Parts: sequence; structure tokens; C-alpha cells
Amino acid sequence: MNIEDCLADFQIPQYLHYLDSAATSLIPEPVIVSMNEYERQYRANVGRGMHRLTRVATQRYQDAHDRVSGFIEGQEGTTVFTRNTTEAINMVAAGLEWEPGDRIVTTVMEHHSNLLPWLRLRQKGVEVITIRPDSEGTFDTGSFDEAITADTKLVAISHVSNALGTVQPVREIASLCKEYGSYFLIDGAQSVPHFPVNVQNIGCDFMCFSGHKMLGPTGTGILWMKEEILSPFMVGGGTVDDVDIEGGTAEGYVLTEGYRRYEAGTPHISGAIGLSQAVKYLENLGMDDIFRHEQKLTERLLAGLAGIDKVNVYGPQDIKNRIGVVSFTIDRIHPHEVAYLLDERASILVRSGDHCCIPLMRYLGLENGTVRASLYLYNTLEEVDLLIQTVEEIARMV
Ligand SMILES: Cc1ncc(COP(=O)(O)O)c(C=O)c1O
Repeated sequence: MNIEDCLADFQIPQYLHYLDSAATSLIPEPVIVSMNEYERQYRANVGRGMHRLTRVATQRYQDAHDRVSGFIEGQEGTTVFTRNTTEAINMVAAGLEWEPGDRIVTTVMEHHSNLLPWLRLRQKGVEVITIRPDSEGTFDTGSFDEAITADTKLVAISHVSNALGTVQPVREIASLCKEYGSYFLIDGAQSVPHFPVNVQNIGCDFMCFSGHKMLGPTGTGILWMKEEILSPFMVGGGTVDDVDIEGGTAEGYVLTEGYRRYEAGTPHISGAIGLSQAVKYLENLGMDDIFRHEQKLTERLLAGLAGIDKVNVYGPQDIKNRIGVVSFTIDRIHPHEVAYLLDERASILVRSGDHCCIPLMRYLGLENGTVRASLYLYNTLEEVDLLIQTVEEIARMV
């Protein structure tokens, strides 16, 4: 299958220009079919019982974990299904043991989901350091070197900024973490869907990402961890090997190993099956090809926007350090107004506002936020040209 052919699998692009995949991606037909198949043909709970349907469902659910692990080369670690990236990050915040004086190093550029869970730990006496990028959203690795100390328990950064599209030097940061003995968490919500990510090569301890941003259903996310060092956020059905109330252990139960330890209760089974199908779909297209396609569109978009009077583009100009998440403003028009006009005039759907990055917007002096166009495999050069042309028309109105 090649990228051009995949358009037929998506209905929305046939009547709208969907440029908001950084918020949530569209979902292709084979993913919907796989979820419906589960609901219609073999719906049963997983990991419970021996009847034929539960055996099939359990096998597919296990296969889904294996496929997602393979997608990020994380077979050696544990892949836990969550509701989204936010839940995955909160599981790490809740599952590590914190002591007063522990330090967390993060950045001012993070999505709130990779910031608030750490800020909340300040109540436990944890110190949170937020590194600041330059105006393009890039960091000097030296600033990480300065901020990471022997007290640094965790470094938590996003692989790619959801507001500026900047790709961060995660391998270099991973080496620093190793040097200081800190855990390294990567928020991969905007990287895993767009280019090949290999957790072994990077050398991180946690990788958190969202299924719904990579062609999967909403309500699916992933926490990959190198070792099972977290204490589970929830316990209950499915998480134990034994329960013996008077059995002599402090808790009265023995937790099982692997992802089941972290997935208490009945999971989102059709979601997991859909996510697995989404990964298969991405693998069939090839992540390198997807990345190349998006880079081609991004290059055209950046060049087009740069030539329009009164339009300001944020994030790196160099295509090598970024993906197709392109933030811009038009002088004297509120970003929400621009987003509304793009929809009204040309059926172009983009996001506007602070992108859940209020500290970054404040740091960049962008009180009203930005307009953000985010590209994915189903977008075309024609759509990019239409966006450029419509932005130009709107800019001429002021
Ligand atoms: C970089 C980043 N981190 C975290 C999130 C939160 O993802 P979710 O809403 O799936 O939890 C997002 C969503 O936009 C994101 O872009």
C-alpha cells in the first residue's frame, strides 16, 4: 500500500480538510472494521475463563500488546495500555516513590499533561526545574547538563513539541540521565505517530503516547516501561497471582508480572484491537515513508506562510528539527477567529489557542496562543496550497 492510496480508507478528507491530527488523528476503515469484528463476533472479557470466545479475545488482546511493543522496539520492556498519554504520565508520577529533595527536570514547553503531574509533586517537597528553550523551541543540551544533578530522580520531556513541532535531542538527554542515574520519561504523543521511534536506541525508561493520535480509537494510550519499577496506580481484578487475606504479606495479595499488573479491571478491549490494527496499518505504509510525506508537506507549508505579509510562524525554520505541526499567527486577528474563518471559507480544520501549553505561550509572549495546522499521512499538497492561499486572503482582510 502506498500513501496516496490510503486516502480511500478515510471518509472525512473526502469533504473536509482535516489539519488537526496533533489533537487527534482520523481513523481508517480497517481499524473500524477490526473493532466491529470484536464487538460482533468474539466479544468476551480477557484473561478470565476458558470458553472459546474469551480465549480468542485474550489472544488478540495479548497480540495487540506485542504488536505495539514491536512498533517501538520495546519487546524487552513492558507495554501497558492506558486511556491516553495523560494517564500514562500520571501512572509514572503516582507509581515512583518520591522523597522531599528529589528533583524533576522538565521544560517550559511541555503539554500540561507532562507538566501538571510533576508540579503536583511539589506538595511532597519535590523540586521541579523547568528549562527554557530559545525562541524556536530548541534546547541547548548544555542546559540539561546544568539542570540534572545527583538529586534528579526523573527527567521528563516531550520528544516533539505539540505547539511548535520541534524535535528534541532525546538520545543526548538519555546519556545525561544515565550519567546521573536519573529516570528518563519521554512524552512521545507527537513523535511515535510520525516517525520511527526505537526505545532501545534512545535509552529511555518510559515512553508515553496516545493511540488516538496514530490512527487508533479514542480512549487508547500506551505506557512503555523498561523495567517494572512502578507501583501500580490501581489494583483489583486481573492484577494478582494470589490473594490470601491472612497469608502473611502486608498487602494480603501477590501482584502478577507484566502489563496485567498495571491494567486493573476490564480494559478497553475493542480499543486495544483497533490500536493494534492501526499499528499494522502504519507499518504497512512504512514509518519512513510517512515521515518523508509529511516533511514534503511541511516544507511547502513553511515556505508558503513565510511569504505572506503579517503572518508570523513559530518553531524551527530548519525542516530537520521539526515535524508537520506548524504554529502561526496573523497580526491583529485572534487565532480563534483565524481558525473559524479557515473553516468557514475553505473547510480547513485547524486548532487555535494555547494548545495546553500555557507556560510556553506566556514565555513566547503569545497571550492568545497560535493557530496550529498539523499534518498527517492523509493530507495532500493541494490541501497545503489551499491553506496558504486562504491564510493569505485572511491576512489581506486586516
Ligand atoms: C505532547 C503531548 N503530550 C500529551 C498530550 C496529551 O495526550 P492525551 O490527551 O491523549 O492524553 C498531547 C495531546 O495533545 C500532546 O500533544
